[in-house]
Amino acid sequence: MRKVVTPAGPLTGAIALPGDKSISHRYAMIGAIAEGDTRIRNYSTGADCHSTLGCVRALGIAVEGGGTEFVIHGRGLDGLRQAAGALDAGNSGSTIRMLSGILAAQPFASRIFGDESLSRRPMQRIIEPLGEMGAGIRAREGKYPPLEIAGAALRPIDYTLPVASAQVKTCVLLAGLYANGRTTVTEPMRSRDHTEIALREFGADVRVERCTIALVGRPRLTARELVVPSDLSSSAFFIVAALLVPGSELTIRGVGLNPTRSALLDFLTGMGADIRIPNLESRNGELVGDIVVRYSELRGGTIEGALTAALIDEIPVLAVLGAATERGIVVKDAAELRIKETDRISTVVGNLRRAGIAAEESPDGMTIPGRGKFRAAEFASHGDHRVAMAFAVGALAGDGASTIEGAEAASVSFPEFWDTLESSAG
Ligand code: S3P
Repeated sequence: MRKVVTPAGPLTGAIALPGDKSISHRYAMIGAIAEGDTRIRNYSTGADCHSTLGCVRALGIAVEGGGTEFVIHGRGLDGLRQAAGALDAGNSGSTIRMLSGILAAQPFASRIFGDESLSRRPMQRIIEPLGEMGAGIRAREGKYPPLEIAGAALRPIDYTLPVASAQVKTCVLLAGLYANGRTTVTEPMRSRDHTEIALREFGADVRVERCTIALVGRPRLTARELVVPSDLSSSAFFIVAALLVPGSELTIRGVGLNPTRSALLDFLTGMGADIRIPNLESRNGELVGDIVVRYSELRGGTIEGALTAALIDEIPVLAVLGAATERGIVVKDAAELRIKETDRISTVVGNLRRAGIAAEESPDGMTIPGRGKFRAAEFASHGDHRVAMAFAVGALAGDGASTIEGAEAASVSFPEFWDTLESSAG
């Protein structure tokens, strides 16, 4: 699908965006292995989170509802049943990596696969710790999906993550739920902690000390009523759109502002963005608030080290924003970007060059010069949701009509993106 995006007038008014993708996955998976009916409101509408629901159903868990509200009829830690066929994770790295932690501990074998993009993403990062716990996992060429997971009685481990990855941390913690004793995960820097928060909500004993998370195995998890905050990473597209288009003043309601996710806002305000956060509250252990963003002239900046890890999903749209800043944006320490849904260093820099921006790639980052004029062009999503949406946002500030090829990719995380863009950009 091709979408034409023309330069926009100011973005104004108030919008509500779909539920957070990361939190939705976790609530559905943990709800499935908790005892009783977990009701989830504002569940993500993205295809990725529906892949998780599909897998959970295939494992014998009844899921009722539709739209953004689901009830997961959890059957307890030992209530999953062997799926009749292979489990389909679609495009979703979170589904395959996190669910594998649960599958590894089952008394039955599972096979889990994904689409073409997911089939190229590395899985050694979960195969290694799960192997240490006693799981038997086979992968294509030893590292790619599909995964054949034998299922075994797992033992607890103390695992130090070689790279900061919340998906891998979650995989080990979910596996640790099934191991008798204490499993610990130490990360090189704090990654998003939705799993720790959600597990506590469901009743698990999870303690965090600096970069080490300790979990006591075989807890009794009990069903919960949960509301998913709106997705900050999806909000990022509209925050950047409002910062780019003169005269904008946009309110985004009920956004998840967990401190392990909100580095984006600090980075933007540090560059001079006019962003306010009224109505902060805590919901199911997660911080939630509104975001009010006004058009601002930005200085530019550098994303490196822990900051890169903290806003890794927002880098495509920040790269687009970089061209409109005074000094540009430099991204470092971002080799992980090369193994996302696409090689995001190459797909982002390639599209920026089509827009006439002299962006440069490095092995683990990119340099986007400032004071650029974003020219209208044909952009390619390469099947990557965040690339499609980032360049649609850039096109709002273009000098004519742009096209986004493969625009349907947005539905992986944000099916309402195109309609919301149309209704909020005047
Ligand atoms: C996610 C963790 C990050 C992120 C992904 C969602 C999660 O991936 O990029 O979109 O929900 O835990 P990594 O764990 O590979 O860093």
